[in-house]
Amino acid sequence: MEIKATGEEIKALGEDALVVPVFESETPRDGILGLLDALTHGAISEAYGSAEFDGSADQVLFLHRTGELSARRLLLYGAGRRQKVTPARLGEIAGAAARSVLSRGLKSVGFFARGSGGPAELAQRIVEGAIIGQLSSALYSQGAKPQLESLTVVFEGGSPGRLESALDTGRIMGEATNLARALGNEPSNIMTPSEMARRAREMAEREGLKSEILDERELERRGFGALLGVSRGSGEPPAFIVLDYCSYSDDQHGASSDQFAPAGKEIIALVGKAVTFDSGGISIKPAASMEEMKFDMCGGAAVIGAMQAIARLKPRARVLGIVPACENMPSGRSYKPGDVLTGLGGKTIEIINTDAEGRLILSDAITYAVERGASTIVDAATLTGACVVALGEIRAGVMGTDQRLIDQLIQAGEQCGERIWQLPLDDRYGEQISSSIADIKNDGGRGAGAITAAMFLKSFTGQTPWAHLDIAGTAWINDAKSFMDKGATGFGVRTFANFVLERATARERQWR
Ligand code: BES
Ligand code: MN
Ligand code: ZN
Repeated sequence: MEIKATGEEIKALGEDALVVPVFESETPRDGILGLLDALTHGAISEAYGSAEFDGSADQVLFLHRTGELSARRLLLYGAGRRQKVTPARLGEIAGAAARSVLSRGLKSVGFFARGSGGPAELAQRIVEGAIIGQLSSALYSQGAKPQLESLTVVFEGGSPGRLESALDTGRIMGEATNLARALGNEPSNIMTPSEMARRAREMAEREGLKSEILDERELERRGFGALLGVSRGSGEPPAFIVLDYCSYSDDQHGASSDQFAPAGKEIIALVGKAVTFDSGGISIKPAASMEEMKFDMCGGAAVIGAMQAIARLKPRARVLGIVPACENMPSGRSYKPGDVLTGLGGKTIEIINTDAEGRLILSDAITYAVERGASTIVDAATLTGACVVALGEIRAGVMGTDQRLIDQLIQAGEQCGERIWQLPLDDRYGEQISSSIADIKNDGGRGAGAITAAMFLKSFTGQTPWAHLDIAGTAWINDAKSFMDKGATGFGVRTFANFVLERATARERQWR
């Protein structure tokens, strides 16, 4: 898709469709609506007069008679209250507009950048949202999946100045989100741990990231006992994926000449749970909705997507992407309730429930991150049904050991429309996961399930600042939204990428 910004005269824009977000406070006599009303010979005031349109959220008015406009169609999109139209919300509106324009067979769109925020921010989110809006989850249906040929971000009243980098960032964020969604939407017979590793490596080679895949033999040799325990029941071998981004080794600003050398010491580890299918194992799940458990790798997919965005955006940073991948299956070889596993760092774990597998594979991945010298660890995982009960599909949960880190993640998410809410993590919750036979057990019982899962992870982080996103409720949607097809949402990609970018620029400021 060709992407540009323009401040050209509205009348002259020759797109298939012009999309104008309209606030509920506006009337067809005001500014831009007044102008469009005149150009369309009163079509807009007519729609207001017959109460067909008034700018309420998600209303759509589609006009065919565009009068003196060069564009073939005019779409007024209800944006609701003006103060609520943040750049992130405008991105969703752009996604919704892209979907409705595409469904009508149109190929080029001019989208008006209107909302609270600077032109660069608005432009970035519009591009991002329009790209996200276009991804279809009907991967294996044979019907056509049309895409827009061009998107023009329109600024009323003249040239918006240089927006190339904002448009680029929007494209990068949108495509990274769609990469994670595409991985998530694949069925588990295709998206096996090996396939996930293959796709991660393919991305890494394309984007110039270092990558390393530890296979089953290597995992055995190194003692990844928790990951191997979960994986044992499956016929599919596990894979441990490591992606490595380092701006400091770049020739552009080599390590020795780097003026921000102290920042080079920070290693951010992004860790993502990738259970490519979670049947529950011997503690098997009920059949109803079990098909949704192909999405249990969405944390890992978010890390792979974020690493693609980071590789393209090139912040001054060192980032490790760590994705433990396996299946959780029942068989004669499966791990069982009552078993004791020994994890990578030697900690012993009593298995109470084989369906609490995510925390197990993450415990090895977190230990690995600590051993690799990570100075900050952030993980994303579809970890608990309890988090879905607490926060639904609107917000992910966050818990951790470093309040500044937690605040930065919430903030990074807020900017891109990924909403996050902190849950408490008092030491006392740890009592629920103390074991009488081993160092710790993998199930804390009925109360505070999202928190006891996080407490389990915390016990593997040592002194390293760490935060955990429970994305069980936000990683996929069972019904399409106006702005996004159903299936995997890519939740976490933009929060992670944005978080790394913000950290890098904060550091540069500090050392300037
Ligand atoms: N992948 C699931 C969590 C999940 C459930 C995500 C529903 C999205 C929707 C996880 O592996 C799991 O099964 N967790 C158990 C833990 C329990 C056995 C302690 C849960 O939440 O029921
Ligand atoms: Mn499970
Ligand atoms: Zn799971």
